[in-house]
Amino acid sequence: MAKTKVVFYCRNCGAQSSKWIGHCPSCGEWNTYEEEVIQKENTRTSFQGARELSKPMAIAQIEPNNEARFDLMNQEFNRVLGGGLVTGSLVLIGGEPGIGKSTLMLQVVLNLKGTKVLYVSGEESEQQIRLRAERIGMHNDSCYILTETNIQNIFQQIEMLKPHMVIIDSIQTLYTDIIDSSAGSISQIRECASDLQRYAKQSNTPVVLIGHITKDGTLAGPKVLEHMVDTVLQFEGDRNYGYRILRAAKNRFGSTSELGIFEMHDNGLREVSNPSEILVSQRDEPFSGIAIASTVEGLRPILIEVQALVSSAAYGTPQRSSTGFELRRLGMLLAVLEKRCGFRLGIKDVFLNIAGGIWVDDPAIDLAVVCAVLSSSEDMPINPKDSFAAEVGLSGEIRPVNRIDQRIAEADKLGFERIFISKYNQKSIDPKKFQLQIVPVAKIEDVFRLLFS
Ligand code: TYD
Ligand code: MG
Repeated sequence: MAKTKVVFYCRNCGAQSSKWIGHCPSCGEWNTYEEEVIQKENTRTSFQGARELSKPMAIAQIEPNNEARFDLMNQEFNRVLGGGLVTGSLVLIGGEPGIGKSTLMLQVVLNLKGTKVLYVSGEESEQQIRLRAERIGMHNDSCYILTETNIQNIFQQIEMLKPHMVIIDSIQTLYTDIIDSSAGSISQIRECASDLQRYAKQSNTPVVLIGHITKDGTLAGPKVLEHMVDTVLQFEGDRNYGYRILRAAKNRFGSTSELGIFEMHDNGLREVSNPSEILVSQRDEPFSGIAIASTVEGLRPILIEVQALVSSAAYGTPQRSSTGFELRRLGMLLAVLEKRCGFRLGIKDVFLNIAGGIWVDDPAIDLAVVCAVLSSSEDMPINPKDSFAAEVGLSGEIRPVNRIDQRIAEADKLGFERIFISKYNQKSIDPKKFQLQIVPVAKIEDVFRLLFS
C-alpha cells in the first residue's frame, strides 16, 4: 500500500508545506494553508501531448499570428472576450450557483453549428442536459456531451473525438488519478487546470472552465487558478431580476471594462443589445428620488436609473445603504452636500439603489446620485426627461468626465430633453449635433436651483 502523506497547500498561491504554517512564505498571505491527504507520488501528468524542447528565439523571428478567434455567434459574449474566443486559450467563468453558467455555455455551444464541441459535465446527467437543451429549444448535431469527472478518461475521449472546443462544467468536480485528495481540493483543481492548460496550448483548442464561487464571492479553489487561465469572466446578477451581467475580471486578449448583458427567460438567455431601454423604468408620472445617469460601461454608453430614499432616521444612528454603488462614495457625496451646501442629511436615513441590479463604478454617475438624494429629500420629482453625466468633487464642484460626446448622444437617442454636464466639458462638444438641451453647471448649488426652485 502506498504510504499516506499529509501535505498542506496554500489556498492563495498553491505553495506546499509538510506542516501547517500561519504565514505563507511564498505569497505572504496569512492563514491560507489547508490540509490534504496525498497517497501517490505525483510524478506523471495526465496530458501526454508531444513534448517539444523549447529554445530561445529572437523576438523579431517570432511569427505574429493574429490570434485566431472563434466567433461564438453571441454578440454580448464576444464583446466581453474582446471579439471572440481566442483559439488555444483557457477561459474561466465563475458565478454563484443557479445564476445560469451552465445555461449560458450550453446555449452558446448549441448555437455553434458545424463546430465540434465537447461539453464535459461532472454535475448533471446526460438526460438533464438534454432536458435543458429542449428547454432552450436548440439542437446541434456537432455538440457532444460527456458525463465524466476523471481527467484521464476525459483526455482519452478528447483524443478520440478531437473537438474544436471543450467546455468543462465544472473544474471543481474533476479529479486526477495522480493525486489522491478529493475532487475540489486545492491540489486537484490546480493539477487538473494545469493539464487542461497544457492541452489547450498544445492542441490550440479553446477550453472553457466553469468554476464555483465561495460565499464571499471569490472563485473557489486556489488563487493560482486565476493566474493559470488567460481570461477570467464573472457571471453575476441579482437572482430577483432577470438580468445577468457577464464581465471580464482578467483578459489577456482584450479589455476588462466591457460588459455583456443578458436576460433570463423561460427558454434560456436572451442577449440585451440595448440595455438603456431596460435599465430605465417606464413611468407615466414623475416620482421623487429618481435621476437618470448617462454612464459608460466599457465602450458602450448606458443610461441607468438611480433611486434614492431619504427619510428621518427611525433610530438614533442614521442608516446608509447602497446597492450597485460604493457605500463609501455615497458617504462622501452626502458629506459634500452637508458641508458645502448646507443640507442636513446627517440625521436622515439614506438608501440608494441602482436599478436593474447592476454595479456601477463610473464616476460620471455622481451627479445623478446627488440629484436623486436631493429630489427625495425635498420630495420634489425631477423631470423624467432630464439626465446627468458629471463627477462631483469634494468642494461641491461639478467635474468633467470622459467620453462626454457618447454620453450625450445616447441620451439624445433615447429621447431625453436635457442633460446636465460640467461646465468644463462644454468646450469639447458641438451642441448643434444634438437635439437635446445641454445644461452646463459648475456647482451643486446651480443644479439645485435649476431643478428645484
Ligand atoms: P444553471 O445554468 O443551472 O446555473 P449554474 O450552472 O450557474 O448553477 O441555471 C439554472 C437557473 O436558471 C435555474 O434557476 C433555472 C433557470 N433557468 C431559466 O430561468 N430558464 C431557462 O431556460 C433555463 C435553462 C434555466
Ligand atoms: Mg451548473
